[in-house]
Amino acid sequence: MENRVIIGGQWGDEGKGKVVDALSEGVDWVIRYQGGANAGHTIYIGEDKHVLHLIPSGILRPGTKCLLGGGMVIDPWSLRDEILALEQRGVEVRPHLMISANAQMLLPYHQRLDELREERLKRQCIGTTGRGIGPAYLDKVQRTGLRMGDLRLPLENLERKCIEKVLSANELLSEFYQADPLPSRVLAGELVDLARFFAPMVVDPYTALRPVREGRESALFEGAQGTLLDIDHGTYPYVTSSNCTVGGVLTGTGLPPQVLGDINGIFKAYLTRVGNGPFPTELLGEQGEALREAGGEFGATTGRARRCGWFDLLGARYAVDINGMTGVVITKLDVLDGMPAVKVATAYDLDGETVEAFPVGSGRLSRCRPVYTEFPGWEKPTGDCRALTDLPAAARKYLEFLEDRLGTLIIGVSVGRRRDQVIWTPTGVTA
Ligand code: IMP
Repeated sequence: MENRVIIGGQWGDEGKGKVVDALSEGVDWVIRYQGGANAGHTIYIGEDKHVLHLIPSGILRPGTKCLLGGGMVIDPWSLRDEILALEQRGVEVRPHLMISANAQMLLPYHQRLDELREERLKRQCIGTTGRGIGPAYLDKVQRTGLRMGDLRLPLENLERKCIEKVLSANELLSEFYQADPLPSRVLAGELVDLARFFAPMVVDPYTALRPVREGRESALFEGAQGTLLDIDHGTYPYVTSSNCTVGGVLTGTGLPPQVLGDINGIFKAYLTRVGNGPFPTELLGEQGEALREAGGEFGATTGRARRCGWFDLLGARYAVDINGMTGVVITKLDVLDGMPAVKVATAYDLDGETVEAFPVGSGRLSRCRPVYTEFPGWEKPTGDCRALTDLPAAARKYLEFLEDRLGTLIIGVSVGRRRDQVIWTPTGVTA
């Protein structure tokens, strides 16, 4: 079976969880490679809703091995809660879940520092999820973080290290932010309990992934967030702190590029963004509100209302190109049902000039005005369509246009939240 990478093509929330769930049937491994509990993958099995923050969506497929890769930042408190909540609902988690020893450990002070920093920035804040992601990656790059492998240390060493880290974070909390310090001994004691819980799940990724490296077992790599939130290639500084693009798979797992296989991008049929930063096709007012309501566009992690707008072909083409996407899935097409017209930004006006390539860097992007191509909408609901030929002609025209302009095949179209509401189109949507 061919390996596969699933990458968000926009600003996250493209519906990757559902696609990973659908494509993970028969796959040996589902591997997350970056990010942390800032992600919120919502999956419906029947009417049963599952929201996963850290655990790969593959956990819902019995027998699939799941790995939290070394490129992630993992809050062991949240992870334990997530495991126990799934187990309570009858999902078998612990026998199948592995955690790379290289993953960074996210501690409660990271979360506190994230909140305080955002408060301090006021209107210039990033609008983070408040999960401590930036401060945890900061500890990683300044080489002061604990790693999940440290949970295998003799417990008294782990306890001592945790106390040291919390005390040093407390200096920053109390001296710079004038905030309350965190209880170092209490947290260290809790971490010791967590170490007992997690120690059997922590693995050396080089050894654990040998069967994938040697091509004996198949893997699906589950991206979190999206290309435009990538720390290097996104709309900096309004980005997350990890590489959500294809390079993150390599650094976040330690596997070589030859194993990647297909690289599939996931795009919503329109566009959303949570948090601050430029968004040229954003719809303010009633139209944005209508999309938000129709699409249920409220964050799975924070509950925040997502900003909504039209599909942006410039950003999407950029995502296809920099990730080398070999096929894309369009999600939530059904949300556009009943819209009188559907628009796509095909160029920008930047200070009076027409721009056709996505301007990297938020300075210029915030001055861009979208130039739209407009399509007639369709009345007929698409939620029950299971073949391209079931779709209204206007919806097919819209998809054909996207496929042509993206320069890669649309291999699937999702028309609802349930597992079965997908039209698979392995040879594309263009007749
Ligand atoms: P952080 O990752 O919490 O630091 O947040 C940085 C930016 O990424 C903010 O704009 C967040 O709203 C956004 N972000 C982080 N994770 C997600 C996600 O899973 N979906 C959508 N946006 C996200």
